[in-house]
Amino acid sequence: MTETIRLLGMSGSLRKNSFNTALLRAAQELAPAGLSIEIADLSQIPLYNDDVREKGYPQPAQALRNGIRAADAVLIATPEYNYSIPGVLKNAIDWASRPPEQPFDGKLVGIMGASPGRLGTARAQYHLRQCFVFLNSTVLNRPEVMVGGAAQVFKDGKLIDEPTRQFVADLLKALSLAVERQRRLAGSTAA
Ligand SMILES: Cc1cc2nc3c(=O)[nH]c(=O)nc-3n(C[C@H](O)[C@H](O)[C@H](O)COP(=O)(O)O)c2cc1C
Repeated sequence: MTETIRLLGMSGSLRKNSFNTALLRAAQELAPAGLSIEIADLSQIPLYNDDVREKGYPQPAQALRNGIRAADAVLIATPEYNYSIPGVLKNAIDWASRPPEQPFDGKLVGIMGASPGRLGTARAQYHLRQCFVFLNSTVLNRPEVMVGGAAQVFKDGKLIDEPTRQFVADLLKALSLAVERQRRLAGSTAA
């Protein structure tokens, strides 16, 4: 029997009607049997302050770190703010990225994003990829899921555009294969 694959979803938007959170919900809906996606709550994470961290991680930041560590891969849905990563997401990544044992090290990451504009968060996604170079994560190169024209492809919080749904399904498939490959490699190293 195939082992369960657990993904942790992170949405870079706190908005109730967020297209990006809706994109993660669409991924949950499209997930094949054996793959589960939990969406992390980033809303309670305070602004990063190293003085605070030195005294101990605040509970919401610690919960995120634990969630990333426990997941086989992280699936991010990022908005694009001013051609870059929204503060909510960057702040959460900053909290997660500090010692000890920063949980993004070696972690598989899939990136997608939705925007009402035409470029579908392309610029934000490339900035995000750059952060994960420093964090030594393995970000999938393809498929790139850049959802433009979000007002047209979502209706009442549901992803209704079939080609876009297929892109999301393809990303989940690619992540699953990458997790399985990583498990095989870990198995052969342990032997
Ligand atoms: C501060 C701010 C900056 C934005 N900058 C961009 C941008 O650079 N590119 C873009 O495509 N959309 C930009 N937008 C529009 C967002 O794509 C849009 O608000 C989107 O719905 C945000 O994602 P969400 O629906 O998940 O909240 C910006 C919105 C805000 C609030």
